[in-house]
Amino acid sequence: MSEFVRICSLDQLPQMGAVVAEIDGRRISIVRDSKGEVHAIDDTCTHANVSLSEGEVDDCSIECWLHGSRFDLRTGEPTSLPATVPVAVHTVKIDGTDVLVAVTE
Ligand code: FES
Repeated sequence: MSEFVRICSLDQLPQMGAVVAEIDGRRISIVRDSKGEVHAIDDTCTHANVSLSEGEVDDCSIECWLHGSRFDLRTGEPTSLPATVPVAVHTVKIDGTDVLVAVTE
């Protein structure tokens, strides 16, 4: 796991949605779910090369806007086709109002 990097403050995240950050050249989606919990996953859908952060967040999953696969934000596992390969999940730490992420290798 890499060092924690400050990405943004909590108020810069949508109430329920995602922003993209780049850590060491890797695009990461920082996602706030319906319960207010913050997650970090690889931003690129494993089915094709599109940004998951542009998808819709629902409960604890995000839907790829292109073909509709949903990914569990806690595990990265796809819960619907056509994607079959999980996205990497990274570690989030909230420090006061700061959102920090450490990339999992
Ligand atoms: S590109 Fe994401 S499901 Fe096809």
